[in-house]
Amino acid sequence: MAEYRRLIAGNWKMNGLLADGTELAAGLVERAAAVKPACDVAVCPPFTLLHPVAGILRGSPIRLGAQDCHTAASGAHTGDVAASMLSDIGCSYAIVGHSERRADHNESDALVAAKAAAALAAGLVPIICVGETLEEREAGKTLEIVLGQITGSLPDAAGGSIVIAYEPVWAIGTGRVPTLDDVAAVHAAIRQALTGQRGDGASIPILYGGSAKPENARDLLSVQDVGGLLVGGASLQVDSFWQIVSACD
Ligand code: PGA
Repeated sequence: MAEYRRLIAGNWKMNGLLADGTELAAGLVERAAAVKPACDVAVCPPFTLLHPVAGILRGSPIRLGAQDCHTAASGAHTGDVAASMLSDIGCSYAIVGHSERRADHNESDALVAAKAAAALAAGLVPIICVGETLEEREAGKTLEIVLGQITGSLPDAAGGSIVIAYEPVWAIGTGRVPTLDDVAAVHAAIRQALTGQRGDGASIPILYGGSAKPENARDLLSVQDVGGLLVGGASLQVDSFWQIVSACD
């Protein structure tokens, strides 16, 4: 039996203006009020929507997350956002090391680990993303890459909860998903690495992400060591996101 509650987290990426973002959040709050979710639920809107969405989520079981944070607590970092600013306005989570940031902003494992440590220091739960490219998978290097990212991107064991998200880069936004056996193999290897590295390794949720949809959510969630889902495209509609949340029942 898993030692953690499963988490369904919606990653809105760079989508949503004030009107649609607040409408989406209000729609989710309505669903959560009608039927209490059987898992933890979070939404991660873009920075501009965090504060208005925090107000809408207040009093509901849906938690708020950001999509990134800076390594420093404050200071001269134009355009960046500190983890303490995120917890101050009601965030519980911060995604760090998403493959889009690793690719677009050249983020290294060491930077991701520092961001995760900054998130923890501010009382946030970092959702630390790892995953191989198609080229790496085809070269048979999936476990080597993913386990290397796990070793390099995790903050030191001291204090605070973390979440891992395994997201094969080639499955993100493509409609392609690994077979359930492939998902199981990577999640088992991550679990083994976590339990080897950390005292709390058995209780860290390992999410799967990459084209998670209402149609495949139940199957993905049935895989051993899949502790929830990080959902991109399908988190932008109330119906599809809530169908995925309901797959935790
Ligand atoms: P997707 O994105 O569900 O649209 O594939 C997942 C993610 O990048 O977190």
